[in-house]
Amino acid sequence: MSLLLGVNIDHVATLRQARYATMLDSPNAEPSPLQAALDAKEAGADSITLHVRGDRRHIQEEDAFAIRGEVGLPLNFEMANTPEMVELALRLKPDFVCLVPEHREEISTEGGLNVVGLKDGLRDGMLLLQEAGIQISLFVDPDLAQIEASREVGAEMIELHTGRFANAQGAEQEEELKALAAAADLGRRLGLQVNAGHGINYGNVTTLFAVAGLSELNIGHSIVARAIRVGLGQAVREMKALMAGYGSGGQG
Ligand code: PXP
Repeated sequence: MSLLLGVNIDHVATLRQARYATMLDSPNAEPSPLQAALDAKEAGADSITLHVRGDRRHIQEEDAFAIRGEVGLPLNFEMANTPEMVELALRLKPDFVCLVPEHREEISTEGGLNVVGLKDGLRDGMLLLQEAGIQISLFVDPDLAQIEASREVGAEMIELHTGRFANAQGAEQEEELKALAAAADLGRRLGLQVNAGHGINYGNVTTLFAVAGLSELNIGHSIVARAIRVGLGQAVREMKALMAGYGSGGQG
């Protein structure tokens, strides 16, 4: 099975907000996350990922609705498990919701969700979303107890947090790969779709091929950064070309 690419376009909005946060209605407000999503689609993205954060630091609700209405790719909505975001997701009706922990001070999502600790706290929001036909992914560290708990609370998918892998080198990175492989294996055996994301870039994506059974990678920062040099379409095509090698060595 081929490895799908979800392109996270939050940082297109980060750039716009840096200049136009207080003038979003201005015709000068650029770059456009909607246009970025359309460009990513044309270049072969399999889905669009976005994260409306509680502090609205990058993607805005209006962006999310425009992308939902106009792009025509599966939409993966990353969100904190708060009543405000559940309500927003019920209006937006994305195909998937990925529940993530969210802390105001962090620069980006810093760790996986503590599903083991939260269990009952997750169920109400998850049920509301699932009753509306939205599939749930839980963003978790490659920790077997978290994977089991994800299955127990009724998630359809997990997204393995690859941030530690991305920041590690040498023997430490080998350990992270082993943990990711074991987590992916357990997730698959429990009947979960297994995705991965955070910190994946053009240099490390093929190293991740050591992890079998992945369905989709969600990649944002490295693609948007590359787009500054080569354009977003080309950045997406380059990542897709690298990902096409997944599974060719008996893995994946
Ligand atoms: N997956 C999740 C759950 C995330 O929170 C993020 C960061 O927004 C990503 C994937 C993408 O990470 P990056 O921008 O480092 O590619």
